[in-house]
Amino acid sequence: ISLKPYNTFGLDAIAKQFISVSSIAELQHVLALPNYPEKFILGGGSNMLLTKNMDALVIHINLKGITIVSEEEHFVTVKANAGENWHEFVLWCLKHNYGGLENLSLIPGNVGTAPIQNIGAYGVELKDSFVSCNALMTSSGTMKTFDKAACQFDYRNSIFKQGAKGQFVICSVTFRLSKNKHKLQTNYGSISAQLAEMGIKNPTIQDISKAVIAIRQSKLPDPKIIGNSGSFFKNPVISTKLYNHLKLEFPDAPGYVISDVEVKVPAGWLIEKAGFKGKRFGDYGVHKKQALVLVNYGNAKGSDILKLAQLIQDTIYRLFKIKIEAEVNII
Ligand code: EPU
Repeated sequence: ISLKPYNTFGLDAIAKQFISVSSIAELQHVLALPNYPEKFILGGGSNMLLTKNMDALVIHINLKGITIVSEEEHFVTVKANAGENWHEFVLWCLKHNYGGLENLSLIPGNVGTAPIQNIGAYGVELKDSFVSCNALMTSSGTMKTFDKAACQFDYRNSIFKQGAKGQFVICSVTFRLSKNKHKLQTNYGSISAQLAEMGIKNPTIQDISKAVIAIRQSKLPDPKIIGNSGSFFKNPVISTKLYNHLKLEFPDAPGYVISDVEVKVPAGWLIEKAGFKGKRFGDYGVHKKQALVLVNYGNAKGSDILKLAQLIQDTIYRLFKIKIEAEVNII
């Protein structure tokens, strides 16, 4: 089958063998099938660039369900299965007035893949309300629970991208959310500006979600219309020394201080400065409103987008001596 509907980049890679699983038992059964030495786990398909057809057996994780695990006076513990769509889960939380995930509204992808790269936006990361996840070990078919420490979360990173890469299938994720007395995160510049523009002085979690949705819709392309995988690159962390050097040449260079010796620079700024923003090469290119996002206008090939990504990386290194890394998984 074509994987086009299964990846937000909308790339037309062919999977020779494809199966969708909707229970843990089915998943265990499929993982143990002996005739398929190579297996590929597919979640929401929102963070990958398919550069070729797939010989492996593609296993689509379609585990559904949201349950309340326990309730306290001010908090609730909620478990969502991996195949739930992330944004629909956020909306479910907002409908029940559960706070903590509102800044993460409208992020594409599924619940099960969210911990892998510790999704984050507008001053909040998944890890902030994460309790644990249950993951199936692909080699043994046994379930293991990872608490927050075990996940080794970092900026767009976790153990599932590092030491445990490819060894587990996340089946469910448990969150601790606020029921009342919500702690709001409105420090991220564009959120407070958006709330002001909406005329909101004392925002609710639902207002924050609306503000985030408005900001995202104004600069990020809707994958249903223009294929993309969100930020293609991570924002690089560079030495303060290199940053000061950059500032000498480009006084407008933005940067967020990470520590005494490190500064994080928006890759979108570097890419724009290098002249790539809005550049279109046939059916693919760099998004007009946010240079960090590479897009497929229709029938681009993953290998073309990969070549563009490499050209951008090389150019940024040549111009600024800064290495930018892909955030998206290259398959
Ligand atoms: N900028 C430019 N030109 C651009 C884009 C950005 O100059 O074309 C500069 C501007 O100075 C701007 C700054 O970059 O103020 C930051 O831009 P923005 O607020 O859009 O955030 P970002 O650093 O580009 C990160 C995340 C996004 C997340 C936003 C908001 C990464 C790799 N990306 O982008 O996450 O939505 O912050 O929190 O950390 C994603 O991971 O897929 C994603 C969309």
